[in-house]
Amino acid sequence: MALFTYIVLLAILNITLAEDCVINNVPERMAFEKQLRKDLRGHDFRLTPPNNSSDFTVNVRFSLRKFDFDSDAGVMTLHTWTFMRWKDERLKWDPEKYYGITETEMMSIYTWYPGIRLFNSADSHDLDRYYYSWCSIKNTGDVRCRKKSTYDAICSVKLRDWPYDQQQCSFEVGAWKSDHFIINSTSRALTMWVAAYGTEWTITDYRQELNSSFERQLKMFLTLDREAAGLGGIVVYPAAILSVLSVTMYFTLVPKPIPFN
Ligand SMILES: *[C@@H]1O[C@H](CO)[C@@H](O)[C@H](O)[C@H]1NC(C)=O
Ligand SMILES: *[C@@H]1O[C@H](CO)[C@@H](O)[C@H](O)[C@H]1NC(C)=O
Ligand SMILES: *[C@@H]1O[C@H](CO)[C@@H](O)[C@H](O)[C@H]1NC(C)=O
Ligand SMILES: *[C@@H]1O[C@H](CO)[C@@H](O)[C@H](O)[C@H]1NC(C)=O
Repeated sequence: MALFTYIVLLAILNITLAEDCVINNVPERMAFEKQLRKDLRGHDFRLTPPNNSSDFTVNVRFSLRKFDFDSDAGVMTLHTWTFMRWKDERLKWDPEKYYGITETEMMSIYTWYPGIRLFNSADSHDLDRYYYSWCSIKNTGDVRCRKKSTYDAICSVKLRDWPYDQQQCSFEVGAWKSDHFIINSTSRALTMWVAAYGTEWTITDYRQELNSSFERQLKMFLTLDREAAGLGGIVVYPAAILSVLSVTMYFTLVPKPIPFN
């Protein structure tokens, strides 16, 4: 009987110890990550850019989710996910001191964040800097952020060919005045998929100009075709179709850190 009790006790003890082992790892890692985030937030870098060099670069990309075009008001509204990537050496840390953690997430309000300005804005809100955004930060100082933004761009309308008209709209962005950075982008700064089809308009062409010599560093030009009655089946360019893959990837990854290609 005594032996039996002993075995039972041993078994219970064993289970408890094993559980401790499994469970305790997580809180320990979490405690380190909590401390890491606290330490990162401890610096007040919000107003000073990470780099004063004239060729400090921020990678910017927009993924179009939805668009509207109000031809009476001459306003094109783009609902996008904005992805940004840059390097901030001040946010580096030594993983050895933080349980081997090499990546964490933080709200953009705690650190410097590039102010993207829409130059041909239809309202006075040409700055969206203070909207919340989630950022993934690596111990190397690489920062990647994503946020939802809505841009209202002025687009002058020419009604000569109505209702079979085609409009050219632009979406012109640059760095906010107090921030000096060069906008860089992958071959295509604005990706779209089904978003290319609006309620009345379809985006049928896209081109961009990237030149940091100008204040309006990145200009994206969109061609919109009015879908007049009986004029269905407008083909979206293959480039737009290809971009769906990367867009879906970003959506499924939310809210995990976003890979930039
Ligand atoms: C950039 O310059 C400002 C003003 O001179 C200075 O306060 C700041 O520390 C500098 N930033 C870096 C990353 O060197
Ligand atoms: C600043 O940017 C320049 C050019 O991109 C780079 O060579 C330099 O290492 C950066 N300095 C810091 C402190 O990040
Ligand atoms: C700009 O982006 C392109 C494409 O992603 C990349 O090859 C290039 O090195 C980048 N330039 C800078 C200065 O970061
Ligand atoms: C950017 O604009 C400047 C000034 O107009 C021009 O000299 C330069 O060639 C342009 N660069 C590119 C890459 O188009």
